[in-house]
Amino acid sequence: MEVHSHEHRHFMPKRPHGLLGLGEAKYKEMYQESINDPAAFWGRIGKTYDWFKPFDDNKVAHSDFHTPDIRWFEGGQTNISYNCLDRHVAAGLGDRPAATFEGDEGEVFPFTYSELLARVSQTANVLRDAGVSKGDRVTLCMPMIPQLMISMLACARIGAVHSVVFAGFSADAVADRIVDAGSSIVITATEGVRGGKTVPIKSIVDNAIIVAEQRGVNVTRVFVTSRNGQAGVEAREGEEGWVSGRDVNMDALAAAASPECEPVAMDAEDPLFLLYTSGSTGKPKGVLHTTAGYMVYAGETFKYIFDHPGPSGAAECSDVHFCTADVGWITGHSYLTYGPLLNGAHSVAFEGVPTYPHPGRFWEIIQKHKVTTFYTAPTALRSLMVHGDEPVLKHDLSSLRVLGTVGEPINPEAWTWYHSVVGKKQLPIVDTWWQTETGGVMITPLPGVTTLMPGSATKPFFGVKPVVLHQDGEVAEANEAGHLTIGQAWPGMMRTIFGDHERFRETYFSQFPGHYTTGDGGRIDEEGNVWIMGRMDDVINVSGHRLGTAEVESALGEHHDVVESAVVGAPHAIKGEGIYCFVTLRAGATPSDELRAALKQTVRKSIGPIASPDAIHFTQELPKTRSGKIMRRILRKIAAGDEEEMGDTSTLADSSVVGRLMKSRQAFA
Ligand code: WT7
Repeated sequence: MEVHSHEHRHFMPKRPHGLLGLGEAKYKEMYQESINDPAAFWGRIGKTYDWFKPFDDNKVAHSDFHTPDIRWFEGGQTNISYNCLDRHVAAGLGDRPAATFEGDEGEVFPFTYSELLARVSQTANVLRDAGVSKGDRVTLCMPMIPQLMISMLACARIGAVHSVVFAGFSADAVADRIVDAGSSIVITATEGVRGGKTVPIKSIVDNAIIVAEQRGVNVTRVFVTSRNGQAGVEAREGEEGWVSGRDVNMDALAAAASPECEPVAMDAEDPLFLLYTSGSTGKPKGVLHTTAGYMVYAGETFKYIFDHPGPSGAAECSDVHFCTADVGWITGHSYLTYGPLLNGAHSVAFEGVPTYPHPGRFWEIIQKHKVTTFYTAPTALRSLMVHGDEPVLKHDLSSLRVLGTVGEPINPEAWTWYHSVVGKKQLPIVDTWWQTETGGVMITPLPGVTTLMPGSATKPFFGVKPVVLHQDGEVAEANEAGHLTIGQAWPGMMRTIFGDHERFRETYFSQFPGHYTTGDGGRIDEEGNVWIMGRMDDVINVSGHRLGTAEVESALGEHHDVVESAVVGAPHAIKGEGIYCFVTLRAGATPSDELRAALKQTVRKSIGPIASPDAIHFTQELPKTRSGKIMRRILRKIAAGDEEEMGDTSTLADSSVVGRLMKSRQAFA
């Protein structure tokens, strides 16, 4: 991963906003204060946001990593939708672009701050009139259309807790999340369109609701919007799947609703949203973020990392931010929706896929909308690199100032391509490390300030104290690899796992008391650069999406021919990690390609296409210890085809199994 580490790179973004003309010395000074006196640091920043009631200066930061109990900006009351919209309209930014949605076929749906405020208020009024109130969990399962962002902000406006579920999940996976959240309200769309293909989202939701009902959670109201409210398929009563009394036409109701809606005053620690993510067990976790801490952290990280002047400088700023993530993931929450809007920035969202109708689609969007800050995932870059430089070179990318990546380590080849072909060797690349749980970016270069180290996410953001610990809890020396933990609270961190505070404590705070455990391995070099070394737990990263191997195993187990399975990640040229499944069949079942296809189908049905196995290796034996524990370390080596460095196999009950499995290894398709 570490390349050219001797070559220090320092790039100033074109047309810097002077925000970060502050230089490395100033960063260090600010960072020190943020660690030594977080209350003073964040208290000062917190005051730059709008509050209905100011927070208590003595209660800016409260944290106890043992209980755990984390609170920020206590005593304060605010509303994030107010801070994203009303505040800017009141300051005269109403006519500035807030969000532009680029449709699959290149249709453009632009919204100014005033327009977005009106649409959000209308939707909020519809929800409120239907009885949705503060604290209710509302599940949003929608494609990348304006109504998704509008619905999130509408929930936030009335204090409802949004739980966005990625529209690529299966009905079963959507049902799990509805049930866990106890969510009786769903907002969805008739269909999604990606890469020219239609995804029947409403019917996935219909099926999910049936499953949820069997499990005791009744969905009483489904708000159905059409794909873009202006064209495309309309949600119509009487259509197949339409449940009268339950389903209502959101477009019609919103159009008739008042464009003014009083935002609810939310206490700083009132829940803002839930977002489900995978852990090392089979059950996804409902990560809970609260109002004020998340708001301040999302806003500030966006501002510094993408070199935006913030709301006070937004009128003169012609920046256009394009984040390619789906709103269904945390990146789409923090850096497509909340972070940019909190700053009065212009956010571009894209409905489609990077290769449709041609592999230059991202670059075409950058040219078309004069994008200045571009944020994507290494897996997307790798999938585009294979098409060569021409699709990039064909487009005018001179508007770009800052490039960013997120979601997984960026390999040297992808970094170099991004830097030289996309960035013409001139632009800073911010490799941002963070997690659904952290709310916002934790480790990142600041453009123009930090010396870039390809392969390293470099320095901690303000308020973030990375600590690498050995298994025994000892702090690692410089360059020693260990568990990456965070030593103190930051405003954007999750507050609990919904409905399971004990699991929250156990997962993140029990292994190293007093530290938040990230689950990633890492090391910190002499200069304080953080090098992320991948997950230490049974979580794999497939195309920047996090997946628990236990979830895939439990899905495989749903097939009646499967007795046992063991799933591991293995290096994949495009996806980063691919899903490699060792499967033991019941007596009488015959291994075949048909069965492989059926098992893949089982997983897709249980989780969704993102979890589709890349290789299925039938085997009647797995490397187990004498006590019967599957040795995953060895399976990972076999899946990777890594015959050397197999490590110690002496604890295996039968070590000859390793050679046999290596021989029958399956290549990724
Ligand atoms: C896991 C979190 C944060 C938004 C997207 C993923 C991996 C994330 C990086 C990076 C190396 C990274 C980590 C982390 N990861 N960013 N820049 N370099 N690894 O969010 O689904 O919560 O996954 O993604 O392993 O723990 P997520």
